[in-house]
Amino acid sequence: MSPRTRLFAANWKMHMDPAETRRFAAAFLGDTRPEPGREVWFFPPAVSLTAAAEAFGGRSDVRIGAQDVHWEPKGAFTGATSIPLARAAGATAALVGHSERRHVFGETDAETGLKVRALGAAGLVPVLCVGERLAEREAGTTEAVVLRQLAAALDGVDADTLARLVVAYEPVWAIGTGKNATPADAAAVHRTIRADLTGRGAPPSGRILYGGSVNPKNAAHLLAESEIDGVLVGGASLEPASWGAILAAAG
Ligand code: PGA
Repeated sequence: MSPRTRLFAANWKMHMDPAETRRFAAAFLGDTRPEPGREVWFFPPAVSLTAAAEAFGGRSDVRIGAQDVHWEPKGAFTGATSIPLARAAGATAALVGHSERRHVFGETDAETGLKVRALGAAGLVPVLCVGERLAEREAGTTEAVVLRQLAAALDGVDADTLARLVVAYEPVWAIGTGKNATPADAAAVHRTIRADLTGRGAPPSGRILYGGSVNPKNAAHLLAESEIDGVLVGGASLEPASWGAILAAAG
């Protein structure tokens, strides 16, 4: 088992309006208690950040984060959410470089770097998502892709930001597909990421999450790997029952 504080992160994507967020929170707060060695982070859509922050407020094990942020603090960027806006709505973390941002919206490696730096400067926690596409895995370039994404996002990042950083390894072919990496395959990539982070001077307490079709059935197997410090979950985080089952499966 990992010596690091386990982190269960729920990426709600484009689901969960404010009322649904409050209902989820009420169920979650009724069914779970804070546990030592476990944190639970929720990434609602921007319009539900305030509802989430209010509804989960006060639970020491819960943190609220944005799914994406712009690196500029303000300006004419229609549709974007700045870090100060996200923070004012209750976010203290943000996903960066989720594969849907990269591959559906065309976010570049360089933009992930700007976002990580801006979050670091603002004192928020960047949750940097990396991962290869199916063709890249089949071509044997998984490590190279992940290392390239890490370099673009983290080269020159200051020690304070590195100390807060969370990395999520999410193979693109496993997201929302029902396929997931075997625990051993995921752990191998996690070791590569850990070595890269250590080489940058990141502390051993930094968490590396696995994401991609995590569900109540496979969560325990994945978390049995000492390199897997937690999970980033999309579909199975949308219902309090399946989310609770993932937390429970992890033991
Ligand atoms: P999924 O999504 O659990 O639905 O595969 C994970 C993610 O995109 O973070």
